[in-house]
Amino acid sequence: MIFHAAFVLSLILSSTAVQLPFRYNEPETADSSSSSYQFKWPIRKVAIVGAGAGGLVTYREFTRQGFQVRVFERDSVPGGNWHYTEEVPIDAPIPNLDPSIADFRPSLPPEGAPWPYEQRLDGLEPKVVRDIKKEHRAPKPIFDRLNTTNPKQAQQFREYPWPDYAPISPTRNHVQRYIRSYASYLGINSNDDNPDISYNTRVERVDKRYTQDGEEAGWTLILRQVTQTGSNSCKIRWWTEDFDAVVVASGRYGAPNIPRIQGIQQWANIQPNLLIHSRQYRRPEAFANQSVLVIGGSVSGPEIAQDISVTASKVYLSVRASEGSILTESRKRYLSRLPQNVSIVQEIKSFHPLPDDGEGLRSGVIEFVDSTLLRGIDRIIFGTGYRYGFPFLPQFHSSSLRPNETIPTKSGKPQPLVTDGTHIRSLHLDIFYIEEPTIGFINGKCVNNGIDTFSFSEYTSSALAKVWAGHARIPSTRKMWDLHWKRLEDAGGSYGKSFLLLGDIRERERIRQLVGWLNQEAVEYGGHQLSAPAESRYEIARIWAISQFPAYFSNQNITGFTASEFLNGNQIAEAWSLSRDDW
Ligand SMILES: Cc1cc2nc3c(=O)[nH]c(=O)nc-3n(C[C@H](O)[C@H](O)[C@H](O)COP(=O)(O)OP(=O)(O)OC[C@H]3O[C@@H](n4cnc5c(N)ncnc54)[C@H](O)[C@@H]3O)c2cc1C
Ligand SMILES: NC(=O)c1ccc[n+]([C@@H]2O[C@H](COP(=O)([O-])OP(=O)(O)OC[C@H]3O[C@@H](n4cnc5c(N)ncnc54)[C@H](OP(=O)(O)O)[C@@H]3O)[C@@H](O)[C@H]2O)c1
Ligand SMILES: *[C@@H]1O[C@H](CO)[C@@H](O)[C@H](O)[C@H]1NC(C)=O
Ligand SMILES: *[C@@H]1O[C@H](CO)[C@@H](O)[C@H](O)[C@H]1NC(C)=O
Ligand SMILES: *[C@@H]1O[C@H](CO)[C@@H](O)[C@H](O)[C@H]1NC(C)=O
Ligand SMILES: *[C@@H]1O[C@H](CO)[C@@H](O)[C@H](O)[C@H]1NC(C)=O
Ligand SMILES: *[C@@H]1O[C@H](CO)[C@@H](O)[C@H](O)[C@H]1NC(C)=O
Repeated sequence: MIFHAAFVLSLILSSTAVQLPFRYNEPETADSSSSSYQFKWPIRKVAIVGAGAGGLVTYREFTRQGFQVRVFERDSVPGGNWHYTEEVPIDAPIPNLDPSIADFRPSLPPEGAPWPYEQRLDGLEPKVVRDIKKEHRAPKPIFDRLNTTNPKQAQQFREYPWPDYAPISPTRNHVQRYIRSYASYLGINSNDDNPDISYNTRVERVDKRYTQDGEEAGWTLILRQVTQTGSNSCKIRWWTEDFDAVVVASGRYGAPNIPRIQGIQQWANIQPNLLIHSRQYRRPEAFANQSVLVIGGSVSGPEIAQDISVTASKVYLSVRASEGSILTESRKRYLSRLPQNVSIVQEIKSFHPLPDDGEGLRSGVIEFVDSTLLRGIDRIIFGTGYRYGFPFLPQFHSSSLRPNETIPTKSGKPQPLVTDGTHIRSLHLDIFYIEEPTIGFINGKCVNNGIDTFSFSEYTSSALAKVWAGHARIPSTRKMWDLHWKRLEDAGGSYGKSFLLLGDIRERERIRQLVGWLNQEAVEYGGHQLSAPAESRYEIARIWAISQFPAYFSNQNITGFTASEFLNGNQIAEAWSLSRDDW
C-alpha cells in the first residue's frame, strides 16, 4: 500500500512538531556592544584545517564573505571520513596514548633548520615509503559495506542538493562521490590545481605570532607535505605560513579509544594483530570461520558485528549498560536490528593472563562483570569510539585535569580545550575558543553526535566568518566565561562525555538560536541573512529511521497508529520523493 505523501506528512507533523522559539533570546549573546569582544588584530587571512564536509563548507562561507583563505588537507583528496581505501589506519595503541598525540605526533624539522626545510629520502623499501605516506595522511575509519546512518536529505550541503537519482540511503561510495563533486563545484578538488588548497599537507603546529614589539599578531602554521618521488623515495617539505585566524575542521575521529580493561595490554603484546579498533575494519572475509568478539554497543560495534556475522563462525557483542545517557535510545536502534546469531554479552571485567602457547587468543579466558567466562575467541574488535585531540595545538591540551577540574583562575594560565579526550571544553557556543577567539571549531560540538556536519557546518562556519568580519559580535571574554561556568554548573559541575550532548530537541533549538542571533546581528552590522533548516528535514530523518529499524519502532505508537502499519522502507522513500517541495 502506498501512502499519499501529504497524508503521511500531516500525520507526522501533527504528532511530533515541537514549538521552537524563533527569536534568539538565550543569554549566550552579547547584550550590548560595550561588552562585546574586541579582536586584537584585524582578520583577513584565514587557515582551514581539513577538507572533509566541514572544511569544504567553511571554505565556501569564508570565500563568499571576502576572506583570503587557505585550506590544508593531510590526505591526497577531499572527503575526509568518507575517503574509503583498502589501506587501513595504523594499529590503535593499547593502552591509549595521551589525547594530544593520539592522532599523530607532530613532526618538525631539526631545531634551527631554515624554513622551508626539505628532506629527500632515497633507497627506501617500498613499504617504508607507503608507511610514511600512511602515517601522514591517516586512512579513514569506514568499512567497505558501510551505509549512511541518515537519509540523503539530512546529509546534504544546502546549496548543492543530492541528485534525484541518488538512493535515499547512500552507500559510503555515494557520499564520497557527492563530497568530491561538491569540492569540484567549489573549484578546490585535488585535480583543480587551486592555490587556495594544499593537499598532502598536514598542519603540525599552530603557534601564536608576535610583532617585534611583543604584541600578539596572529598565528603561524607549521606545515608538512609528503610527496612520493619514486617507488623507493619521497620528499618531505616543511614550511610556515602566517594567518590571522584558524578554523579547525579536522574531524572528530582521529584518535581511537581503547578502554583500559584489566589484562588487555598483555593480550595485545602477545597478539598485536588480533586485537583491532573498528577504524581498521574493512570487510568480513578476513574473519571467515572465526569466532569474533566485538566490544561496544553504539553504532560501530553493532554495525560491524552484523557485517561480520555473514562469514564468521560466531560473533559476540559486548555491550555495557549506559542507562541515563541521552544516546541510550538511539543506540537501542542498532542493537534491535542485529541478526539473531550475534550474541550480546556483558561488559568485560578482565582478560585473564594469556598463555603464550601459539594458539592465538583461543586459549585465553575473558571474564565478564557478572563473573561468567568466555573462551575460544579468535579475534577482538574494539568498537569503543574515539577521543578528541588536536595534536597541532599542544599548548591547549592538559591531560592531567579530571573532568571535574579546571585550571585555577589565579594561575593566569589558559583553560585547555582538551583534557582526557572525552570532551572539548572552553568553547563559546561550541564554536569559539574563549581563550583565543581567533581559533574556531566547525565540529567542536558534535552537533547531533558529529553526524550533521553536511548541513550544520553552514551555521558554525557562518558564525565564525560573520564574527571575524565584524558582522556579528560575541560577548567580552569575561562574559563568555560567566556563561560557560553557568553551563558547566547546569551540567552538574563536571565536564565529561555528555557535556556536549543536548538531545534532538535542544539540538534543533540550538541551530535556530544560532540563525536567530546571526540574523539579528546582520540587521545591525550588515551581511547576509541565513535561513533555518527546513522542518521537514527532521521529519524525513524520522520516517527514514522507522523504515531502517522496524523492530525498534514496531512497538511504538508514533503517529497515531503503530509504525508497523506503514513499515515498508521503499514505500516511505517513494512517499517522500513525491513531496520534495523544499529539497
Ligand atoms: C565510521 C563512521 C561512520 C560515520 N557515518 C556517518 C553517517 O552515516 N552520516 C553522517 O552524516 N556522518 C557520519 N559520520 C560522521 C562523519 O564524521 C561526518 O559525516 C563527516 O565526515 C564530518 O566531516 P568533518 O569535515 O567534520 O570531518 P572529517 O570528514 O573527518 O574531515 C576532517 C579532515 O581533516 C583532515 N585533517 C585532520 N587533521 C589534519 C591536520 N592536522 N592537517 C591537515 N588536515 C587534517 C582529515 O584528513 C580529514 O580529511 C561517521 C563517522 C564515522 C567515524
Ligand atoms: N554509517 C555507519 O554505518 C556508521 C558506522 C559506525 C559508526 N558510525 C558513526 O561513527 C561515530 C562513532 O561511533 P562509534 O560507535 O565508533 O563510537 P561511540 O558512539 O563513541 O560508541 C562507543 C561505544 O563503546 C562503548 N564502550 C566504551 N568502553 C567500553 C567498554 N569497556 N565495554 C563496553 N563498551 C564500551 C561506549 O559505551 P559508553 O557510552 O557507556 O561509554 C559506547 O557505547 C558515530 O557518529 C556513529 O554514528 C556510523
Ligand atoms: C549497504 O547498502 C548496499 C546497497 O544498498 C547493500 O548492498 C549493503 O548490503 C548495505 N550494507 C550493509 C552493511 O547493510
Ligand atoms: C570455512 O569453512 C567452510 C566449511 O567448513 C569451508 O568450506 C570454507 O572454505 C572455510 N573458509 C575459509 C576462508 O577458511
Ligand atoms: C548469521 O546470520 C546471518 C544473517 O541472518 C547469516 O547470513 C549468517 O550465515 C549466519 N551465520 C551463521 C554462522 O549462522
Ligand atoms: C573530582 O572527582 C574525583 C573522582 O572522580 C573526586 O575524587 C574528586 O574529589 C573530585 N574533585 C572535585 C574538586 O570535586
Ligand atoms: C496511539 O496514539 C493515538 C493518539 O495518541 C491513540 O488514539 C491510539 O489509541 C494509540 N494506539 C495504540 C495502539 O496505542
